[in-house]
Amino acid sequence: MMASHASNDGMVFICAGLTLGAVVTAVASFLLLKKGRQEKAAQANGEAQHAIDDSERWPAGPLSIYFGSQTGTAEGFAKTLAAEGARKGFNTQVVDLEDFNEFQLAEAGKAIFIMATYGEGDPTDNAMAFMDWLKQAGKDASLASTGLRYTAFGLGNRQYEHYNRTGKATHAGLAEAGAELMFEYGEGDDDGTLEDDFEAWKEKMWAAVAPEAEGVPSFEADAAAPPEALLLAELPFALHFLSNAEAAALAPTPEYEAAASTRYYWQGRSATVVVNRELRAWTEDGGSTRHVEVSLDGTDLAYETADNFVVLPENPADAVEALAQAQGYRLDQWFTIEHGSGGDKAAFPTPCTVREALTRYVDVCGVPRKGTVERLAAFAADPAERARLARLVSRGARDEFRAFVTDARRTLAELLTRDFRSARVPLAHLLHAVPHLQPREYTIASSAAAHPRAVHLTVALLREDRGGGRRFHGLCTRHLAALEAPGAPLRALVRASTFRLPADDAVPIILVGPGTGIAPMRALLQERRHRRARGAAILYFGCRSAQRDYLYRAELEAFLADGTLTALRTAFSRDQAAKVYVQDRLREHGAEAWRLLRDGGAHVYVCGGTAMGADVAAAFADVAKDAGGLDDADAKAFMQRLHAEGRYVQELWS
Ligand SMILES: Cc1cc2nc3c(=O)[nH]c(=O)nc-3n(C[C@H](O)[C@H](O)[C@H](O)COP(=O)(O)OP(=O)(O)OC[C@H]3O[C@@H](n4cnc5c(N)ncnc54)[C@H](O)[C@@H]3O)c2cc1C
Ligand SMILES: Cc1cc2nc3c(=O)[nH]c(=O)nc-3n(C[C@H](O)[C@H](O)[C@H](O)COP(=O)(O)O)c2cc1C
Repeated sequence: MMASHASNDGMVFICAGLTLGAVVTAVASFLLLKKGRQEKAAQANGEAQHAIDDSERWPAGPLSIYFGSQTGTAEGFAKTLAAEGARKGFNTQVVDLEDFNEFQLAEAGKAIFIMATYGEGDPTDNAMAFMDWLKQAGKDASLASTGLRYTAFGLGNRQYEHYNRTGKATHAGLAEAGAELMFEYGEGDDDGTLEDDFEAWKEKMWAAVAPEAEGVPSFEADAAAPPEALLLAELPFALHFLSNAEAAALAPTPEYEAAASTRYYWQGRSATVVVNRELRAWTEDGGSTRHVEVSLDGTDLAYETADNFVVLPENPADAVEALAQAQGYRLDQWFTIEHGSGGDKAAFPTPCTVREALTRYVDVCGVPRKGTVERLAAFAADPAERARLARLVSRGARDEFRAFVTDARRTLAELLTRDFRSARVPLAHLLHAVPHLQPREYTIASSAAAHPRAVHLTVALLREDRGGGRRFHGLCTRHLAALEAPGAPLRALVRASTFRLPADDAVPIILVGPGTGIAPMRALLQERRHRRARGAAILYFGCRSAQRDYLYRAELEAFLADGTLTALRTAFSRDQAAKVYVQDRLREHGAEAWRLLRDGGAHVYVCGGTAMGADVAAAFADVAKDAGGLDDADAKAFMQRLHAEGRYVQELWS
C-alpha cells in the first residue's frame, strides 16, 4: 500500500496511507498538485472506487473519536487512540468537535470523547457548540434509538475549582441523551499524572471495547521492529518537496481548509513591538518582568480593554538550526502537504519552508510527553539508543521518564540533537508526531479607549533552574523578551476576555491583581481615568518586595493621586518576617469589602495564579462570614450569586 522515501533532494515524495481509517488507497503524484485542490479531491474520490472491502479491512467496524481541546493535548490523545484503534481493526476517524455533526454521531456506532476543561470549568472553544447541543439532546433523548455506544475521558487540572467539569458533563450528557456507556468514564489530572491516567484508562478501555484484538503493538513492545512497520501506516498525509518556482506557483492553503484546533496560524497577524522594557527595579535574582507595547498599525486587529492578546511564539533560530543540521533537513527547502479524502484539515498553511515549519508550527522546543517520544523513538539507528529509548517509554520506567525528560525539562530538540543523536526522523514523521506550537495568552494591560492602536503587555519571564546546571526558559516569554523595540514583528491575535467594567461608573470595583495579575487592573484603571469615573475603586496589589518587583509603582500611585483609585492596598510578602499576601490585606479590610459588595453592588476582578485565586476566593467567603455574619452555606451561596451575576470575574493560570 505504501512506498516511502524521505529525502530533501528535489521533488521527492512520501506516499503513505492517506487517511488513517479511511478506505482510500491513493498514490499522490507531484503533477496532481498543480491541478488545484478541487481536482485533487475529485481524483481522490475516483480512486475510492478501488477501495478494498470495509469489513475485511476494518473487522471491528467504525469508531469515531471526538476531541474538545484548547491547547492540543486532548487532540494528541485522540490521535493516539485513532492509531491504536486502527491497529485493532477499527475504522477510526478523529473528529474536531468544531466540525461536529449530530447526524454523523447518531450513525457512528461507537464513539470516544476526549474532553478538556478550560476557562472556569468551561468547554474548550471548539466544543462550545457541541456542549450546547448536548444539553438539548439530553432533554430530547436525541440519541435514544441510535444504538450509539460511547465512552469519555476528561482532561483537567485539580488546581482549578471545577475539576474536569467538561469531561463529566459530556459523560452525563451522552447518557442522558440515550447513548449507551461502553466503558467507564475516565479522567486525568494535568497537575502531574495526566499521561499516566490516560494510559491506565485506555489500556482497560481497549480490553473492554476490543477484547478480541491483539495488544496494541508499541515501540516498547517491539523495540527491534523497523520504524516503517510501526509508524508509516500512521501518516495521514503526503509531504511533497517543491522547488522555489513550484512553491511560488502554488496558492497558500485557504483558511476554510484549516483544522479548527490550529486555525490561529491563519488568523495571526504580524504586529510590531514598539516598546520592550524591564519593569522590575531589581533583577539580580534572575527574575524579570517586561512591559511590552505592540503597535496594531497596519493590521486589522482591534481590542477591548483587558481583552487577551494571543501570541504565536517562535522557536529560537539556534535550536531550529541545530535540529535541522542533526536531522539533515534543508531549512530553505519548500514543501507542501496533501491530505487524503478522509476529511482531514490542514494543520498549518503550506507551501512553506522547512525553517518556517520548524520555527512556527511544531513544538520542537517544548518538553515532550511520553507519547511523542515513543512515536519518534523507533527512528533511533543505534541499538544502544534504541534500547534506552524503549526503556524510557516503557510503563515500568515512568519515574525515569519523569526525571530525565519532564522534571529536567529536556526539550525534544535537545533529545534529538544531544541525547539520541542516531535518531533520524523523516520530516513528515516529525511534523506528524510532534504537537503543534500553541499560542500563549497575555491579558492586555492597556485601555482601548486610551490606546486604540496599541496593546500593552506585562510579561513575567519564565526561567527555572532544573538542577545539574540545567535552566529551562519558557518558550513564549523568551521569545517576547528577545524582541527588539522598536520594529520587531510579533504574530498575534486578540481574544475576548471576561473583564468588563460595570456600565455605571458609580458602581464600586475591587481589583485583586498581584504580580503580572496587575495587567488587566492597569487596563481597567486607564479606562476609568479616560472616562473620568469617580466611584470607589480599590486595588490590592502584591509582590515580594516594594524595592524590587513592585510593578508600575509610579503609575499606580498616580492613579491614587488623581482619584482614579480610591485605595491602593499592597502586600509585600518578603519585606517583613511574616509573609503577607493580598488575601490577608483583603481580610483586614473585610468590613469595607462587605459594605461595598452588599450595599454598593461592587464588582470584583481577580487575576493571576490559580493558587492565589483560590486563596482570594476563600478570603471573600470569610469576609461574608466574618463581616456579613453569614454561615458557611449562605457564604457559599453568596459567592455563587456573585459569579452568576457576573460580579466576581477572574482569569487565572497555573
Ligand atoms: C488567560 C490567560 C492570561 C494570561 N496572562 C498573562 C499575563 O498577563 N502575563 C504573564 O506573564 N502571563 C500570562 N499568562 C500566562 C502565559 O500565557 C504563559 O503561560 C506564560 O507566559 C508562560 O509561557 P512560556 O511559553 O514562556 O512558558 P512554557 O514554555 O509554556 O512553560 C510553562 C510552564 O510549563 C512547564 N512545562 C513545560 N513543559 C512541561 C511538561 N512537559 N510537563 C510539565 N510541565 C511543563 C514549564 O516548566 C513552565 O513552568 C496568562 C495565561 C492565561 C491562560
Ligand atoms: C486557562 C486555563 C483554564 C483551565 N481551566 C480548567 C478548569 O476549570 N478545570 C479543569 O479541570 N482544568 C482546567 N484547565 C486544565 C486543562 O484542562 C488541562 O491542562 C488540559 O490538559 C488541557 O488540554 P488541551 O491541551 O487539550 O486543551 C485549565 C487550563 C488552562 C490553561
